[in-house]
Amino acid sequence: MHPTTRSLQNCLRSTLPSARIDVVSLPKLDHLRLALINADFSTAPLPPETMRKVIANPAYWAFCWGSGLASAMWLQANPDKVAGKVVADVGCGSGVVAIAAAMAGAAHVYACDIDKDALLAAKTNAKLNNTQIQLCEHIDQLPPNLDQVWMADVLYDRANLPLISAIKHRAPNLIISDSRVRDLHDPDFTLVRQAEALTFPNLGEFDEFRVVNFFEYSADLCHN
Ligand SMILES: C[S@@+](CC[C@H](N)C(=O)[O-])C[C@H]1O[C@@H](n2cnc3c(N)ncnc32)[C@H](O)[C@@H]1O
Repeated sequence: MHPTTRSLQNCLRSTLPSARIDVVSLPKLDHLRLALINADFSTAPLPPETMRKVIANPAYWAFCWGSGLASAMWLQANPDKVAGKVVADVGCGSGVVAIAAAMAGAAHVYACDIDKDALLAAKTNAKLNNTQIQLCEHIDQLPPNLDQVWMADVLYDRANLPLISAIKHRAPNLIISDSRVRDLHDPDFTLVRQAEALTFPNLGEFDEFRVVNFFEYSADLCHN
């Protein structure tokens, strides 16, 4: 096992005792490696007790979600999108978007997640990729000088929709990438891009989630 991933594997095994953390390269992403759940993890139904633990404490951070992957690909191809900017990745999970932003030349990167294990994952993955990111547990801890916020596959839970207006008050530019949401029903956002990506490793994600939509809000384009 990679020496820096031992604590992460312990976290994962607290809910999935037979899982393993592997350090892997991502499809269509150059020079970015993440510590994720093993791709050959069995997709057979879990015992009820394990299932209860997974539901109580889902290790979202052990996957690179399709929207995080598509966002990181976009950043690798267009580093000018973040270069020199103060950027936050809200709902960072593994930290893939934060790390891609740091690699693309962002001046300062915050990785924010309400799950402490996700923050450990983001910290571990930042170290694996020799990048600097700053961790925070709540959007209220983000600094006032943010230039841009990314939110990738966070709206899987509609209870997270209020995050959108909370962040709109904190940053002049917000990019939401999501494979579950087809329309934000918010006139302040423009659908700026669509890309194809599936969660990695893919342990049976439905093909209907292959298309990632990118919605962007820019305060200077918004007249409300
Ligand atoms: C589906 S995962 C996506 C992770 C990552 N962005 C990616 O694309 O791989 C969603 C993440 O959002 C986090 N999250 C959910 N609600 C949040 C909130 N209110 N503030 C910050 N993070 C939140 C979860 O803990 C989880 O790590």
